[in-house]
Amino acid sequence: MKIGDKYKIKIIDEDNIGNGIAKIDNFVIFIKSALKDEEIEIEIIKINKHYAVGKILNIIFKSNKRIDVECKYYDICGGCNFLHTTYSNEINNKINYLEKLFNTKINYLINNNELYYRNKVTFHVLNGKLGYFNDKTHNLCEIDYCYLLNPKINLKLNEIKKYNLDNINEIMIRCISDKIMINISANNENIDLKNIDCDCLYINNKYIKGEEYLVDTIDNIKYSIYPNSFYQVNNEVMKLIYDKAKSYIGFGDTLLDLYCGTGTIGIYLKDNFKHITGLEINSTSIENANINLKLNNINNIEFINDDAKNIKGSYDAIIVDPPRSGLSNDVIEYLNNSNSNKIVYISCNPNTLKRDIDKLDNYILDDISAASMFPRTKHIECVCKLVIKGE
Ligand SMILES: C[S@@+](CC[C@H](N)C(=O)[O-])C[C@H]1O[C@@H](n2cnc3c(N)ncnc32)[C@H](O)[C@@H]1O
Repeated sequence: MKIGDKYKIKIIDEDNIGNGIAKIDNFVIFIKSALKDEEIEIEIIKINKHYAVGKILNIIFKSNKRIDVECKYYDICGGCNFLHTTYSNEINNKINYLEKLFNTKINYLINNNELYYRNKVTFHVLNGKLGYFNDKTHNLCEIDYCYLLNPKINLKLNEIKKYNLDNINEIMIRCISDKIMINISANNENIDLKNIDCDCLYINNKYIKGEEYLVDTIDNIKYSIYPNSFYQVNNEVMKLIYDKAKSYIGFGDTLLDLYCGTGTIGIYLKDNFKHITGLEINSTSIENANINLKLNNINNIEFINDDAKNIKGSYDAIIVDPPRSGLSNDVIEYLNNSNSNKIVYISCNPNTLKRDIDKLDNYILDDISAASMFPRTKHIECVCKLVIKGE
């Protein structure tokens, strides 16, 4: 087999990132956007030691799970993986993958907003043109519409494109409670886009005009959001995950919210525990978390600005929500010796979650749920309950 070879093949399976799988003489070929049972003419575009990659030239027999792709950037942008198939098929592929990985049943939390869900986007600007970086090549894919974005962000995008974008590197847009926040990363503040109409404008993280921060309300809890605050991008799925975490964690005297960001989860659980401690490495997030306490008149939560590896003390229950890289060995050691009854682990990377669960020797995986925080992309969010052995 060599690059440029053409074959007629039948797709025998699908993976969790939007590829169809075929075999030629027992050698595995991945084909982007191909679906099980389809007969396809492909061209080989890449060959590795263990597999090859093919691209679709012609679909001879179509799966009934194939749908028309509305997005004109699907093949070049690289942000989405499942626009060519039904949402239920995407979810089934993700469930199959997780059930094999964790060797247990997965409770998939189903959301209704498979499109237009993102409350935040960061566009790159190159030579005055605005778009996404292709995830592999870092070439700019210029866009004027994205099916994942809140419609108000799409409208703002088209307004922004009317301005001269020279000297601008990145533009972050957030839409929270129907209000628009823009943070521009630029070589200097003397830019045309300064005149754009929005509820809140920052340049290079410096406040320029409008409201200083936006406020989101979930279940009567108010969350302040600054340009650099970590805040989940999909409100509906954030609530599904937080509600599941709430049911897993139950009630008690003391809770540790490790990797707490702006304190959103701890605050969501404020009535389940007498005292909550949040710990987070980013000092701006901690300032933001303390504002959230004031906004909600909360006095049973304290936030600590520190590295998770320095955590000490004992708690009835612990929530961890680390970045994609998962838990460090120091944190694993702390958790194994913590004696906490329960650990709820929220993760945006199933592979590091699996690795960490295997290292948490003193805990047993009791239940695991998953959701699509970023529907139509390859990403999966998991939340699981671990209980101490011998309880
Ligand atoms: C996935 S976010 C979770 C934030 C929060 N729980 C939420 O749902 O909004 C991960 C957080 O971990 C923080 N973080 C990363 N490394 C850390 C470390 N070594 N110690 C403490 N916090 C860390 C990041 O700053 C980020 O706020």
